[in-house]
Parts: sequence; structure tokens; C-alpha cells
Amino acid sequence: MCGIVGYVGDRNLESVLLVGLERLSYRGYDSSGIAAISEGELSYWKTPGKIRELEKLLQNMNVQGRVGIGHTRWSTHGEPNEVNAHPQVNTVKKVAIVHNGIIENYQALKLKLIAEGYIFRSQTDSEVIVHLISRYLQDSLLEAVERTMLDLEGTYAFAVIAESDPERIIACKKGSPLIVGLGKNENFISSDINAIIPHTKEIVYMDDLDIAIVAQDKVTFKKLGGAVIEKTVHQIAWDATSADKNGFEHYMLKEIFEQPAVVRNIISASVKGDLIQFDGLRMGNEDLIRTTRFIIQACGTSWHAGLVAKYMIERYARVLTEVDISSEFRYRQMISGVNDIVVAISQSGETADTLACIREAKSKFFKVLSFVNVRGSTIDRESDGVINTNSGPEVGVASTKNYVAQLVNLYLFTLYISQLKWTLSQAEVQTMLMELKKVPDYIERILEQKEQIQAIAEKYYKKREFLFIGRGMNYPSALEGALKLKEISYIHATGYAAGELKHGPIALIDDQLPVVCIAPKCSTYDKMMSNIQEVRARKGKTIVIATEGDTDIEEFADDIIRIPDASEDLTAILTVVPMQLLAYYIAVRLECDVDQPRNLAKSVTVE
Ligand code: M6R
Repeated sequence: MCGIVGYVGDRNLESVLLVGLERLSYRGYDSSGIAAISEGELSYWKTPGKIRELEKLLQNMNVQGRVGIGHTRWSTHGEPNEVNAHPQVNTVKKVAIVHNGIIENYQALKLKLIAEGYIFRSQTDSEVIVHLISRYLQDSLLEAVERTMLDLEGTYAFAVIAESDPERIIACKKGSPLIVGLGKNENFISSDINAIIPHTKEIVYMDDLDIAIVAQDKVTFKKLGGAVIEKTVHQIAWDATSADKNGFEHYMLKEIFEQPAVVRNIISASVKGDLIQFDGLRMGNEDLIRTTRFIIQACGTSWHAGLVAKYMIERYARVLTEVDISSEFRYRQMISGVNDIVVAISQSGETADTLACIREAKSKFFKVLSFVNVRGSTIDRESDGVINTNSGPEVGVASTKNYVAQLVNLYLFTLYISQLKWTLSQAEVQTMLMELKKVPDYIERILEQKEQIQAIAEKYYKKREFLFIGRGMNYPSALEGALKLKEISYIHATGYAAGELKHGPIALIDDQLPVVCIAPKCSTYDKMMSNIQEVRARKGKTIVIATEGDTDIEEFADDIIRIPDASEDLTAILTVVPMQLLAYYIAVRLECDVDQPRNLAKSVTVE
């Protein structure tokens, strides 16, 4: 799960590679490196830590050349240190590779190569690639790469440079993403479009077992063991999006505060007068009208959005909706129906588990509809229908604004399906749209409580454990609140359906345990009140998320955060906001790296 980039051309090589790596760092950021060929000689530099560490290292180096490759890593095999960072080089340091993927048979290959005298320096699976190329390298680098590909099992996108072939990059893929960018007298390779879109909008998507021979003046494509092939060149229609912190201390805080604007944008893009429309949906209404079951696939925060969607879709569109964690989906023998639609939800559009699910679904002839934020991502391209979640670039690893954007789009989608299926009248849809239009103002009102939430964070930041409870569509909110806290502050937090407390987790409660209780005034309010009292009876500390004007709850709350009095269907969009801020302020107080927490990556591209 890493990002790779490569460049052949006259621009400043170091800068093209570093910009590319920075833009790829959502795929991993525990170490990085580059290699270049200058006057026939290979040089490479690599270091543990974020891309800025590589930048620092390169400040005192003289990176020259017109051919180079780069890598940003999320460790799978071997800890994130300099030796395990990429590029990996052969014994005599004349061939260098960068690799994204996992070589599943690396142990067997490594033993064989060691027996032949090859010396391994790293604990990575990737190092076998460079030794195999070295082993097969006689006259032709291309031939050595092809023979290496035949030996490899698992997934890969890798790029090679070698002193014996100093003017070109050879890049190939199987299972991991790889694109080629075409420029004027310059060419690029990358794990995604985003890394090279500042330089070119002409893109070739590589298919499995494609090989690209990338020279300055041309790129030749061939299939493994086959002849030269023609590939379609795609013109990318959007511009490079860049995100800066806009005066905020962290991207995460900026993204939390962008939420009102994100919701306004989505509404103005998808609601035209009385009509809901999704630009670029690519799926006909006939498919949606016929649907009798949605099977939602997603991971992490996107899975929580799927859980909320189930409440809405089943209630209003009356379509049976199942929600699977993508990594578990393949372990059940799903019964398929002809009118089922598989729905993938993914911010990045690159999550390997979700991608594997949609591929499996398509192989079984399901239609796939995806909610994706990153345009041009693999899930975007491989789905039959796509709804862009339209939250703009999300940089913080902890998903915030895109979660809210997913919920808003899923709410609109529910209304859209309900109209198609006549399960809601036009008047009911209009009333629900009017309610939705109030959400940006509601979120602004919640954000105004930031000082108060910061004070609550100050009170509890030393606790090592938190519980989050909610009911109905605020049960997924409890899961999301707990996930936000644990991923950025490293505090153990668990989300529970409040009714489940008495079936086990209540044993955890003592006077040290903070319990975040999500209790807006809605159909589950009375039951939540009982659960809050159960927590209080055992001396747990209650941080209650309650509706403005609800005074009854004050007696049972150690701390209160208010949300506006919104329709029940919209509470999940609102209750998550104070929990994002609570997690943020606790993590800041603990001096954690909020935007790039340890061990994580923005996009999880390994299964
Ligand atoms: O890009 P995706 O939405 O497919 O990513 C899914 C999860 O990896 C992601 O939501 C993850 O849980 C976030 N770090 C949560 O903040």
C-alpha cells in the first residue's frame, strides 16, 4: 500500500518526484525515497518519516538527471526504516525499483535467490523484484522485467530504472493501480492521476500485465509476452485540486469547519428546483426502479455511512438494504437476485477491499453503483453508476467532511429512489428537502460550541478509554465517534448500540469511564434516557449530545453538547460534528499527529 511515481523529461526531476510523492502520501507516509540516473549513473536517496524528511535530506544533495522514480511507503513487510524504504536496489546498485503491492511468493523466491548468492538487505517483499531483474538482466531490461513478472505471485505496480538502459523507465502492473501520463517531450508514471495532473491531462490507464516502456519522446505499451499494443489516451476534464490549511492549524480542523459549505454545494449541485439529479450518474432509472435489494460495501467511516443509509433507504424507499464490511463480504455465500444492486461507498475510490468486492460483484453480473469522492479513481472508473460525493479534496486521514457529504448524498439518493418508486409523494420529498436545506446552518450552530467542546476535551483527555452509545441511526454515529477518537488520539474507544450495554459492556462502567451518549430528541429518546441513567447509576461520566432546549436531560449529564432541533432523519449528520471536534481537541491536547496518525494511510490499497 504505497505510491509510486516516475518521470522522464527536462523538468527539475527532484521537484516533479517530490510533488508527486506529496500528492501520493495519502497512500502511505512512513518512509519515502527517489532514484535517478544521471550521465549513466544510478543514485538514490531514501529516509524514514514523512515526505518532508526526504525533502530535508535532498536539500544537501545534488539530484541530477532526466530519468527518475519515487516511492512513498506504508509498511507491510518490514518496519519503516531506511533500509526497507524504496527504491530497492540490486547488489551492485545499478538497478532500482519502486513497488506498490504485495509479492505473495516472496519467501520462496528469496530463499532461491539467497541460495544463488544474492544478498538481501531489507525485510521487504519488494526486494525480490530487483534481484530477479538483476538475475535475468543480460542485454535487455525489458526482457528481464518480463521474466521477473512471470515469477511473481501477488499484486504489483512497479517501475524500474537501470544503468544498462539509462534513458527509460519500464513500468508494469498486476492488481495494483498504475497510470501513464503523456506530455510534450516528457512522460510520467504514477499510482494515480492526482500526482501528475499538475503536469499533464493526457492519461493512459494500464491494465493488468501491461508493460509501459517510458522514454522522453514516446511511450510504448506491450502485453507481457506479447506484441506492442495501442492504448486509449484519456483527456482528464478536471484541474489539479490543491488543498491548503487556510489558516487552520490542521487539515482536519479546516475540513470540519468546511462542512456547512460542503453541504450547501451538494444541495446546489443536486437539487434543481423540485428535482433531485445526480450529474454523471451513468446508471439508468430503469435499473434503480427495478431494484429489490441494495447490498452496500464499504470500510471504516464509509461503512458507517452505509449503516445510516440502511435506515433511510429501508424506511422511505422500502428497498431491502444490506450493509457489509467489504473485507468480510467475500466470506459469505451471498444469494444473488437479478434486481440487486451492489453499492460501494468510498472516499478515495481506491480502497482495496471495496474494490475487490465490486470486482467480485461484477463477475457475478451485479450492477454496481458507487458513491466516490475522488474522480478518476479505480472504483469510479470500474462502477456502472457513480454518484460523486463532492466534498472536495479531503487531506486529513480521519474522514470528516466526506462522511457528512456521504450522508447528505445518501439522503438525497433515498429521496431520489423514493420518487422513482412512488414510496414518497412529491410533497413529502419537498418537505424533506426543505429540512435538508437547514443543515448547513445547523452545523454552523454546532461549530460555534467549539470552545465548550475544547473544554470537555481538556477535562477528559487523560482517560485511556471511552464508550460511545446511540440508538437507531445514531448507533452508526456512535461507531463513527469512537473511530474518530481512536484513530487520531490512540485512546481505546468503542461504539455500541445503547441497548446492547446491558449485554456486556456495562461491566466496563466505573467512575473513570467517559461515556458519550448520543441522545437527540427523536423516537429513541426515552430509551436513550434510560441507558444514560444506567450509566449514571454506575458512576460513569456522561457527555451527552442533546437537542437544544431539552432541559430534562441536564440532570443526567456531566457535560452537554447541543445540536439544533432537526428532523430525526438528519440527526446522524449533526451528531457526528461535535464528536469530530471532541476527538480533534483531545488528539491535539495529547500532541498527536492529527492529520497523519501513526500506522494509517488515507487510502488503504492492500487487502
Ligand atoms: O477511501 P475509503 O472511504 O474507501 O476509506 C475507507 C476507510 O479506510 C476510511 O474511512 C478510514 O476508516 C478513515 N481513516 C476513517 O477516518
